[in-house]
Amino acid sequence: MADAVSVVKRMNLKVQPLVEFFERLASIRGWPFLASWAHRVTGVVLVVYIGFHIITLSSLIDPVKFDAKMKILGFVLFVFLEFLLVLPVIYHALNGGRVILYEVFEYRRDQMVLLWVVALGALYTFLLAFFMIAGNQSVSAPFFWVYTAAAAGCVTYITVKKLRASGASVFWKFQRISGAFLFLMVPAHMLFMHLNPAMGHDSQVIIARMGNLFIKIVDLGLVAGVLYHGGYGLYSIGQDYITSSRAKTGMLAVLICIALVFAWKGLKLIVLI
Ligand code: HEM
Repeated sequence: MADAVSVVKRMNLKVQPLVEFFERLASIRGWPFLASWAHRVTGVVLVVYIGFHIITLSSLIDPVKFDAKMKILGFVLFVFLEFLLVLPVIYHALNGGRVILYEVFEYRRDQMVLLWVVALGALYTFLLAFFMIAGNQSVSAPFFWVYTAAAAGCVTYITVKKLRASGASVFWKFQRISGAFLFLMVPAHMLFMHLNPAMGHDSQVIIARMGNLFIKIVDLGLVAGVLYHGGYGLYSIGQDYITSSRAKTGMLAVLICIALVFAWKGLKLIVLI
């Protein structure tokens, strides 16, 4: 017990200067500034992770190879890293929801929504840790996804309706629309995969689930949404740093090529299994 207390005290000593640094920055630039930087960083982390995720899943075409990979990823360190992914996922999803509320629905009580982002993010993190530790939940995939996809469809439809009259570019609108679609789909996907270890790691369980036509449609929606949203996100970050219009066009071409390669990998996997 005494050991645990001293570990907490030591961690506190290390975390304290970091907390103070962010508080100072927030008092100068404001919390929304910090929130948008964190959104950018977590967006890039998610793009990198989704690239690895699609590559790992592609080996499902050869289940023996996939199971061998999963054995390595089953080590405690990787399971912990997989859990840590909850932080960028839930932060980016909820803060993205806040940005959509602000920009599209013109809901301007931003400080209050930021508090909700923190509270709901903590609740989700706790729930995911609970399910990962219990590891014994079971729910029918079509049942889970019918409700989730219907809710995501409603959120997307409301956003589309609201954006119809906006004069913004169609590409920008699609980024917000794909964000609205992913708002529920991505956290739900992560939760579902961790209800028990087999859900996201056992090739036979995944292949059986992906054989269902409805699940294929859900997966196609996720791949298309994530590739467009992440690709446009990277493009808009690039716009902030690249000044030459030639370099901008080059970046766009490279991003489209990479997105097409991943789209092909995802499509092949979903159709062939
Ligand atoms: C989970 C649901 C998600 C929601 C609600 C969401 C929402 C948003 C919104 C509204 C923006 C625009 C922010 C701005 O311009 O200020 C954005 C940017 C971005 N998103 Fe997402 N997103 C989600 C998931 C993802 C995923 C899965 C990825 C990775 C593929 C991703 C990658 C990015 C990137 C790279 C940016 C650009 C960040 C920037 O411009 O600072 N997002 N997201």
